Amino acid sequence: MSAASKPHVTLSGQNPFQLVIVGHVDHGKSTFVGRLLYETGALPESKVQQIRAVSERRGQRMEWAFLLDAFQAERDQGITIDVSRIPFKTDRRQYVIIDAPGHKEFLKNMVTGAADAEGAFLMIDAKEGLQEQSRRHAYLLSLMGTHQVSVLVTKMDLINYDHAKFQKIETDIRAYLRELGFSPRAVVPIAAQGDEADNIVHRSTNMLWYTGPTVVELLDILEPRPQNEQLPLRMPVQDVYRLDERRIVAGQIETGRLAVGDTLIFSPSGKTAKINSIEGWNISYKPNEASAGQPVGFTLDQQIFVERGEIASHAIDPPILTNVFRGSIFWFNDKPLRAGDVLKMKLTTAEHMVTVQSVDEVIDTENLGGTGRNEVQRSEVAKVTLRARGLMALDEASRAPLTGRFVLVDNFRIVGGGTISMDGYPDQRDLVTKRGTNLTASVTQVDRDARWKRNGHKGAVLWMTGLSGAGKSTIAREAEKVLFLKGFNVYVLDGDNVRGGLNANLGFSPEDRAENIRRVGEVAALFADAGIICLASFISPYASDRERARTAAGDAFHEVYVRADLEVCEERDPKGLYKKARTGEIPDFTGISAPYEAPDAPQLEINTAALSIDEGVAALVAYVEQQIRLT
Ligand code: ADX
Repeated sequence: MSAASKPHVTLSGQNPFQLVIVGHVDHGKSTFVGRLLYETGALPESKVQQIRAVSERRGQRMEWAFLLDAFQAERDQGITIDVSRIPFKTDRRQYVIIDAPGHKEFLKNMVTGAADAEGAFLMIDAKEGLQEQSRRHAYLLSLMGTHQVSVLVTKMDLINYDHAKFQKIETDIRAYLRELGFSPRAVVPIAAQGDEADNIVHRSTNMLWYTGPTVVELLDILEPRPQNEQLPLRMPVQDVYRLDERRIVAGQIETGRLAVGDTLIFSPSGKTAKINSIEGWNISYKPNEASAGQPVGFTLDQQIFVERGEIASHAIDPPILTNVFRGSIFWFNDKPLRAGDVLKMKLTTAEHMVTVQSVDEVIDTENLGGTGRNEVQRSEVAKVTLRARGLMALDEASRAPLTGRFVLVDNFRIVGGGTISMDGYPDQRDLVTKRGTNLTASVTQVDRDARWKRNGHKGAVLWMTGLSGAGKSTIAREAEKVLFLKGFNVYVLDGDNVRGGLNANLGFSPEDRAENIRRVGEVAALFADAGIICLASFISPYASDRERARTAAGDAFHEVYVRADLEVCEERDPKGLYKKARTGEIPDFTGISAPYEAPDAPQLEINTAALSIDEGVAALVAYVEQQIRLT
């Protein structure tokens, strides 16, 4: 059947509401889950009888937790139900509890996205109250961007259904969750072990003081996560198959939807093509649309080369392109994580080698503050900055959760995972996108050597990077004068000046700074090509921008690090800007509220904390004499 004769066939499905239940192992999770399944009629009677018999034989009360063990045993034998996805239903809808055999596996599932929960229950043992473990669990839920969190206070029977004790726990957990940005729909006191379960399906007669919803009532008022379909299209390419003459690009649509005729852009390669046809799995017709959650394959109108790991999106709303990002991570390796460590990062189907540029903060989950330490121990959560060599396609987790999280792999083992933010860093897409078409470059007839010979020196870019107040412009202007008098063709490009003209339309957002440096990098390269020595004095805080400027100028590029620590620059504060930045009057100020990435291996370093201005100028002039003058 052709696509045309089957209008608006959409590949999509009604998924059950996905629930995770987190809590310390002893906080009654298995008992609760067993009881919930029983009370909602999800268990075959034979299974219940079996457990009852086992419990009685052991002279125990009905042990609900055995139910999960029984399921687990069956799963291990490859029979019936997968304990990592336990289904049940209420009158309103279908649910699936996402679980894993162990605590660690569970956390791994959470960070890998295997457990993509729409709602979470945090279990707190009534006898224990709010402990560190529960705090950490709540923190992880916030890290994973869990949509909504509710609290179950378990084992209320063990504290004699005491209202005051419950109230204390409720107050504590609500306060903590509020700091994480959650406002729980309910904090439900329950008891799952007794003859009559309290507040699971049936309202407890032991806690008449409780007027909130039962667990099942609560479940039914939880809102499904805003549909992934409505988010921007993200389809990571899993594979490209050849079928006859055709190539089928296959993958799972994580978010959004696509349709025949849509123009897709693949990132990071930037290649674009139109969808010719959608090929469904195991269906006889060809759908002309597909949406989030669906595995699809499609053919394109052009033979472009795309490969596993690229993300397909619409051109108007593509993922971010960057070689650096901030991760809020959970670390579960025995070996601590430190700056400089190199790991494999997996983001959907893409893999990148990343270096830990910095460990910015190890979080103390007790009070949500920093610990002041800079290595991440096992089971800790931390903020880190990760860098790859090439550009990665990714999203901020707050915007597109499934392409906004990643796992870290060391020696084939998952050792951590987390969510992405770009705080302080630019999307580099516009910097690498070429929009012009039908261009044919003309070629000069004046060769480079001829220009150099007439000038007596090579063309060059001396790229002077450093914090505001480090002395870049002062040294550049003095050196310009000295070099001019010595007969060099020299010209200064300076941030504050260029921003009055060529870059008057740019501010100090990460994207604007990157564009500032892109333009200036190109201009400086033109100066060098024209045979001039260009002293480019710009903060240029991002290493990747300076790399692009280097690429533009080729071997004419020389990186000069005008170095002074933040304290020194702030002390000097020649323009009074640091003072304003500290009071918040200037946002995104380099070194204070915006990043500065110092060069790794500059061709020349001028340490202005140790040298006088004259000495700094002399160092630069000497460099030019040695490296740029023709002998
Ligand atoms: S860059 O980051 O894009 O390379 P550039 O060198 O062009 O910056 O401009 C830096 C100059 O702009 C500083 O010397 C300072 O005078 C001024 N300035 C104004 N706002 C800021 C800011 N938020 N951060 C840094 N410099 C700023």
